[in-house]
Amino acid sequence: MVEPGEIVAALRYLAGRKGPLAGRRIVITAGGTQEPLDPVRVLTNRSSGKQGFALAQAALDAGAEVTLIATPTALPVPYGARHVAVRSAAELLAAVQAELLGADALIMAAAVADFRPAQPAADKIKKHGAALTLTLEPTEDILALTGAQRAQTGWPRCLVGFAAESRDLLENAQAKLRAKSLDFIVANDISATDAGFETDTNRVVLLFADGRSETLPLMSKAEVAERVIAEVVQRCAS
Ligand code: CTP
Repeated sequence: MVEPGEIVAALRYLAGRKGPLAGRRIVITAGGTQEPLDPVRVLTNRSSGKQGFALAQAALDAGAEVTLIATPTALPVPYGARHVAVRSAAELLAAVQAELLGADALIMAAAVADFRPAQPAADKIKKHGAALTLTLEPTEDILALTGAQRAQTGWPRCLVGFAAESRDLLENAQAKLRAKSLDFIVANDISATDAGFETDTNRVVLLFADGRSETLPLMSKAEVAERVIAEVVQRCAS
């Protein structure tokens, strides 16, 4: 017997099929990357993946074919999404690159590590009572690379980033919007306790390449996702 929840999920999926993104392929990344230190430990961050998973659901509701590239999380994959499991920034980059050709939009909600241990240890690092110094090397900036590639290939048609900031929200987000050649960026202030990492709500500002901006009130991550997907629809549906 199929679980009632699965029947509801299947009906929701079917109801979306004639939506404004029908026939469009949307790639969404979610969660915090994990950079191995040794076979036991990783460097990671506080991203829960909730906003990315909510985006996948909203894109499905709008009729899109959705690929959700996600780091490990306890969240259920929305019914109808194609799930690609990754851990590190390097795996995320490879997965994004494999999906890009023919993608209508890439939404990078994942919190990608900017640095990884330069030489992960093959065996578990043992304590010796002394301080441990780690050497970290930079990872590839996936969005910046995709923005540069888009100038050559034309794919993806729509490129969306997130900016998690603890200060100077608008200035920093504006700089990322330009540096990564995005259509728009979703900026959020991670210092607020009711928004950002691990919460079910978010308070964001949308900044557009044409200089417009829109400040949204505190809302659920599902509602933020609907607003973001509505903007993607405007850029992709034609
Ligand atoms: N991003 C990315 N690749 C990275 C780092 C970030 O694609 N190596 C993407 C994120 O998924 C997000 C956007 O770039 O959509 C901004 O990420 P954020 O962590 O806010 O900023 P950074 O560009 O890493 O800059 P900084 O950490 O200096 O604020």
